[in-house]
Amino acid sequence: MEVVRNITQDTIWVGGGDVRLALFENMFPLENGVSYNSFLISDEKTALVDTVDESVGRQFIENIKAALNGRTLNYLIINHMEPDHCANIDEICRLFPEAQIVGNKKTFQMIEQFYDIDITGRTLEVKDGDSLTLGVHTLRFIFAPMVHWPEVMFTYDAYDKILFSADAFGTFGGYTGNLFSDETDYEELYLNEARRYYANIVGKYGVQVQAAMKKTADLDIQMICPLHGPVLRGAQMSELLDKYAVWSSYQPEERGVLLVYASMYGNTENAVRLLANFLAGNGVKNIRIYDVSKTHFSTIVADAFRFSHLVFASPTYNLKLYGAMENVIKDLAALNLQNRDVSVLGNGSWAPAAGKAMACMLSEMKDMRLIGDVFEIKSALKKEQYSALEDLAESISSSVLSVDREPA
Ligand code: FEO
Repeated sequence: MEVVRNITQDTIWVGGGDVRLALFENMFPLENGVSYNSFLISDEKTALVDTVDESVGRQFIENIKAALNGRTLNYLIINHMEPDHCANIDEICRLFPEAQIVGNKKTFQMIEQFYDIDITGRTLEVKDGDSLTLGVHTLRFIFAPMVHWPEVMFTYDAYDKILFSADAFGTFGGYTGNLFSDETDYEELYLNEARRYYANIVGKYGVQVQAAMKKTADLDIQMICPLHGPVLRGAQMSELLDKYAVWSSYQPEERGVLLVYASMYGNTENAVRLLANFLAGNGVKNIRIYDVSKTHFSTIVADAFRFSHLVFASPTYNLKLYGAMENVIKDLAALNLQNRDVSVLGNGSWAPAAGKAMACMLSEMKDMRLIGDVFEIKSALKKEQYSALEDLAESISSSVLSVDREPA
């Protein structure tokens, strides 16, 4: 049975949600699954904007058939070729042999790479800024390369003032029936997951996100339809646009301290917890502490994009940095995280290497400002180091609480 919903008089959501999926991209844990959005616009001509993941393919085909209500499909518009959105292209081609496939040069290259579908004679290649008229609906294609793959484009429906934004503005979290952002408590249900999604999936491409936002800044947009998560409108749409402006410029979203530690026997953790105690005593309110061996790296990455100050603490292992910590810092570097105040605590019992290694990795990232010297622990924190740790906490606290460095 179809599960569809009109988002305007002519446009119907025909997507689906997968709450069984445990790992997005076989990597990112999902507590509440993920949704795959697709939209059918019915005018003099009909156009389907993107398809869905194969896990919801059966539901999707039922939805399209119901939404078409006996009509045929004239166009399949492909904004993004990642398989979570294009797994049903071959089925659509088979069901609607007269449908033209709309994409750009890179789209068609990727169709060839991923699938063995013969699309000869049924492609409509568009260039950046080109339009396609369906009747009263005119669709404009706006290239948004590297948000999140090179072939990505947005589609703007000037009639309904809708921006179909591919992965941009998407979030983890399955379909609940509340399709629109203002039907949900978006802040409570989705904002943290939207940040985790952005930081881990698109975070590397801040420059490209800014470029795409600049290209769409003059459009009258009443609704944003991302490929994952609720359809955005109203206050939540404005809020997420503001968040994207901050995230994509690598500005911290909030002043606060994220402490990330590795600890085998609790000694490094003990120093971190004492440091957090001092920070709280100094009036720092926004503090998060994560154990790299327990908390998934995607959550750490999300909060690294969120907070202004980061503390990394780790023991030495195999004469090098503890592997799980090395992976987290490498991931932050790969995602281009920058412009943060950082502090480092290293631990080592006979050949300490962790502190130096972390400081070195962070110094190779852009605009990472080290607060204090690398704080070295030999096996366990000693009473005589207490005041030095207090001093470090004081330096971090005064930097966090300084009023002349409000985040953007
Ligand atoms: Fe949801 Fe980049 O695919």
